[in-house]
Amino acid sequence: MNDFRPGLEGVVAFQTEIAEPDEEGGALRYRGVDIEELVGHYPYEAIWGLLVDESFDPGMPHPDEYAPKHLTGNAPSDLQAETARLSSEWGLKKLVDTDLDETRDDLARLSAQMMSIVAKSAAIHDGREPAPDDVVSQGETAAEAFLLRWRGEANPDHVKAIDTYWICTAEHGLNASTFTARIAASTGADAGAAMSAAVGALSGPLHGGAPARVLPMLDEVAAKGDPEGYVKDLLDRRGRIMGFGHRIYRAEDPRSRILKRTVQEIGSHRLEVAEALEEAALAELHRRKPDYVIATNVEFYSAVLLDVAEVPPDLTPAMFACARVAGWSAHILEEKRTGRLIRPSAQYVGPSSRPASAVGRAPVRT
Ligand code: COA
Repeated sequence: MNDFRPGLEGVVAFQTEIAEPDEEGGALRYRGVDIEELVGHYPYEAIWGLLVDESFDPGMPHPDEYAPKHLTGNAPSDLQAETARLSSEWGLKKLVDTDLDETRDDLARLSAQMMSIVAKSAAIHDGREPAPDDVVSQGETAAEAFLLRWRGEANPDHVKAIDTYWICTAEHGLNASTFTARIAASTGADAGAAMSAAVGALSGPLHGGAPARVLPMLDEVAAKGDPEGYVKDLLDRRGRIMGFGHRIYRAEDPRSRILKRTVQEIGSHRLEVAEALEEAALAELHRRKPDYVIATNVEFYSAVLLDVAEVPPDLTPAMFACARVAGWSAHILEEKRTGRLIRPSAQYVGPSSRPASAVGRAPVRT
């Protein structure tokens, strides 16, 4: 086996009709539509419809009335546990036993409920009771309802920030969490199992957790007032600058462009330091790796935009998960429609055949 590719880089595992990251041109299209045309014109729940149903209408529904069983206030783990629990609470059928319409409806209910779980967990984290349904139902969009449920109020700038962030990060091809969702779906597991598996994969800092690490970086640069020195020092220690680099894009990440523009429109006390760090990071990364494009990725200005909406850093993986319910749903459905059991191979490079005694004596049981 000479075709081993660490990290499966460049390996084409599926064909998809959902999203197209145009790596050279730095554009991202959902079902063929550039996200530049979507942000600010359609709310997130309509984008859910575009990605899942290829139609803005009816989009993601309102959540069912449902009380999660055990919220701790740690949103990423609450979301993973409660989503898995919905499979049994709602008696979701295995994907092998449902038709496409049933699967789509399960995914729609799950998506809406997952947002509600995150908002409730965030309220508990803040020491508040989540707002009652009559308050939440005043929200005109999913982002507004989310904030109402979490905080009992929805500042329009915060609604715009969250809606923009969710749309920009709703789907991005075969990233780690989406791959995970498709793997689970390919086994015929139910939609709740596939969604909760995806949440777990998203929680790591190299995928969904980077925004949480961007703000401390910005604070350090603001305190020292020396972005160039910060970057050089970090790279000399072989550290990674969070919010830069991407496995796919070899050009500016289009989502970063939109997120930055939105921060500029709404305003942020962190914008100046973010722009200074970005400039210093891009220059130094380019100086050290002139042949490898490492540009600003989605996470850098996501962190600043979510900060504008007063989303604490440790909530950012769960906010990312809220955004990705659309992409995961679309891929789970596509997997059901087109897929077969995912079962790649591993190249064995361990010890050659040997007796157990070569490993050591058997422990003596008393
Ligand atoms: N800061 C410093 N160096 C970086 C870097 C970053 N953000 N991103 C890549 N590099 C360097 C690596 O250190 C490596 O250098 P080396 O060859 O001298 O060891 C080289 O670029 C290639 O790294 P690799 O991890 O193979 O590149 P990739 O394109 O597959 O990486 C990421 C993609 C996202 C994993 C990587 O850019 C990263 O870790 N970024 C920071 C975390 C982040 O922002 N994650 C969110 C992604 S949306």
